[in-house]
Amino acid sequence: MKYLLDTANLDDIRYYYDIFPIAGVTSNPSIVKKEGKIDFFSHMKEIRSIIGMDKDLHIQVTARDTNGMLRDADAILDKVDDKVCVKIPVTLEGMKAIKLLKAKGVTVTATAIYSKQQGFLAMEAGADHIAPYFNRMENMGIDPDDVIASFAEMIELYDYKTKILGASFKNAGQVDRAFLAGAQTATMDPSILSAALGQAHILKAVDDFDADWKSVYGNVTIAEIQ
Ligand code: E4P
Repeated sequence: MKYLLDTANLDDIRYYYDIFPIAGVTSNPSIVKKEGKIDFFSHMKEIRSIIGMDKDLHIQVTARDTNGMLRDADAILDKVDDKVCVKIPVTLEGMKAIKLLKAKGVTVTATAIYSKQQGFLAMEAGADHIAPYFNRMENMGIDPDDVIASFAEMIELYDYKTKILGASFKNAGQVDRAFLAGAQTATMDPSILSAALGQAHILKAVDDFDADWKSVYGNVTIAEIQ
């Protein structure tokens, strides 16, 4: 399992990257919007400098036509770095762009996936990652567990190299389900990870351990025992 941070906030990336076992960072234009009108390329380079070259940095194109997507991809690879995973929405224009980018050896993340057929086509086109939109599917009455399980089944059956990158999560339970359905990777807002470890019952357990220890040893920690 790999966890990615679905944010472009530099403070959050610095803070949570030190805490959690993070495999990379993803964003999309709506996530970038939350940071205001940033200097886009220098901001993305800063994210890269925080996470390092050995982690995955996924950046989405903004053009809607194939040629524009290819130009966006060139600009990203040129002005950020050539290891970026270029995110392409799986539309008709996007599908063509995925094929052309894969022919050039670019690492591609096929995104905005709401259906099995989008994912199947993207893996057959050679996408390195496919990003099913878990919460958005659930909102539409589509079963995201079944969609992800079908992707995992096809990857196994046909030996595709594609990885399933679950996206669009609103809580930790959805992330659990995506991994259990077969997603190798999931990207989420850091608040989902911090909430998962900050539950009251976890803190209560730690409070109880603390009180029991102190009732015997006072404020002396293990390291301070003489
Ligand atoms: C990945 O970066 C996806 O674009 C993202 O997870 C979508 O999340 P949303 O459904 O909350 O917009």
